[in-house]
Amino acid sequence: MSYLDVSYPREKGAFYALLREQLTLYCGGETDRTAVLANASGVLAQAFPQANWAGFYLVKGEELVLGPYQGKPAVSRIGYGLGVCGTAWKEGRTQVVEEVSCFPGHIACDCASRSEIVVPLRRPDGSIWGVLDMDSTLPAAFSQADREGLEPLTALLFRENDC
Ligand code: SME
Repeated sequence: MSYLDVSYPREKGAFYALLREQLTLYCGGETDRTAVLANASGVLAQAFPQANWAGFYLVKGEELVLGPYQGKPAVSRIGYGLGVCGTAWKEGRTQVVEEVSCFPGHIACDCASRSEIVVPLRRPDGSIWGVLDMDSTLPAAFSQADREGLEPLTALLFRENDC
């Protein structure tokens, strides 16, 4: 395996095609969930230079618990329905937050963060096992096009040893 820097194109179709390739390259042959998510956070941080935090929270009982990520230290547990992450879990849909100060209950891990995207992660049976979270210091750094691009890629991250 080579660990080359890649240059992501601006055009969303090409961008997400390359992101799929990179996630497949670094995660595709791996069965261990921690290793998959650790490398996925590295791939995401490289693909989204506007992100100051990129990683995962995993469902454990009634909470989301911090998983592999790249960025500053973060809150380790988030309750069901709380913050942007808990809301994505509770509502079962991606949250694209253009300005976090306008999101009721937003949990600030880094007060420099201005915008955020949180994508639920689903098992093949549709149940949610975690969320992908990316933050940015820029307002409106993530778009509905990113939601459309990221959602299908999350299927690449599921592994059976996720409990
Ligand atoms: N902002 C998130 C908390 C996680 S940190 O951003 C990494 C939220 O409101 O759920």
